[in-house]
Amino acid sequence: MSQFMVAVLGGDGIGPEVTAEAARVLETALRSAGHRIALTEALVGQAAIAAEGAAISDATMKLCQRSDAILFGAVGGAGVGNPNAKAQPEHALFRLRKELALFANLRPVRALPALLGASTLKREVVRGVDLLVVRELTGGLYFGKPSEIRETAHGMEAVDTMTYTEAEIERIVRYAFELARGRRKNVTSVDKANVLSCSRLWRRVTDRVAEEYSDVALRHLLVDSCAMALIRSPREFDVIVTENMFGDILTDEASMLAGSMGMLPSASLGTQRTQHGQRGLYEPIHGTAPDITGQSKANPLAAILSAALLARYSLGLPAVADAIERAVLEVVSAGYRTLDIATAKGRVVSTREMGEQVLGRL
Ligand code: IPM
Ligand code: MG
Repeated sequence: MSQFMVAVLGGDGIGPEVTAEAARVLETALRSAGHRIALTEALVGQAAIAAEGAAISDATMKLCQRSDAILFGAVGGAGVGNPNAKAQPEHALFRLRKELALFANLRPVRALPALLGASTLKREVVRGVDLLVVRELTGGLYFGKPSEIRETAHGMEAVDTMTYTEAEIERIVRYAFELARGRRKNVTSVDKANVLSCSRLWRRVTDRVAEEYSDVALRHLLVDSCAMALIRSPREFDVIVTENMFGDILTDEASMLAGSMGMLPSASLGTQRTQHGQRGLYEPIHGTAPDITGQSKANPLAAILSAALLARYSLGLPAVADAIERAVLEVVSAGYRTLDIATAKGRVVSTREMGEQVLGRL
């Protein structure tokens, strides 16, 4: 019997708290389905800078490259660091994304019936929302050079660079069309083609790819208009495909359709295959939440749902993924709530207890 290898990188802030629950859930779900799994923990982010001198060490990178998948928490601190500093906690994520070629970031957003009341939006607006954002993850402003703050004769100036190649656009758009075929066959490509050259190329390439998918409907939407439509009529979306930074911003917005950032998982995938599936990194979309760190107040469900995606995409175990997702649904339907999704009738529980409740239903 083969053994699955998963690297567990909790990171900073609430990262380790939520990741611990996700790791326990993953381990239990796999064991009860008769599989063997080895989980290996390592430092990342601020914690790694302090102990190992880099946001992610070469040894940890090797561990990740050897593993079938990476269960990731969150990195970063309370403030915005010096962007010219050598070691920034976020570099760990960028290095992992780039060196493992994880160009496709999948962020599914579902409004669970039991959580309609947790959203700041009206029930009738969020009811039935089921969309998937496919965010490009290794290009655009996050990786373009130069990116720096510098001195000039006229004072300081800053520069960031957005670049996209045809090939980068094509592979992510294709990914989105493929996923749409397994869903409601509807793709919205989001750009800012009225301003940006990158977006104009994005639109051209997307139209070309779309010709190969005559069974899938495509529309283009400007990012500002998309931000509005997401809260006006979110049910109109099936698959959204967009560049790196637009995807970052729109998914924080879209998380409120599901009630809280604490409910949104993500999968980062690329082209590397393992014995069992695609090598991938799985993380909740929320950050380190320094304001509630160490208080067992964080919602572990986004991390636990990320573990479900891990089982589905990297371990090739859709039944295990379904079991975890079902357990989460049951816990939420039974009224268990962390503070971020607290509703009038729900019972507020700690991070640990929420994890226990999910475990108990596996
Ligand atoms: C995310 C996060 C990261 C990003 C940060 C921590 C660098 O916001 O994964 O959405 O911007 O990609
Ligand atoms: Mg983000």
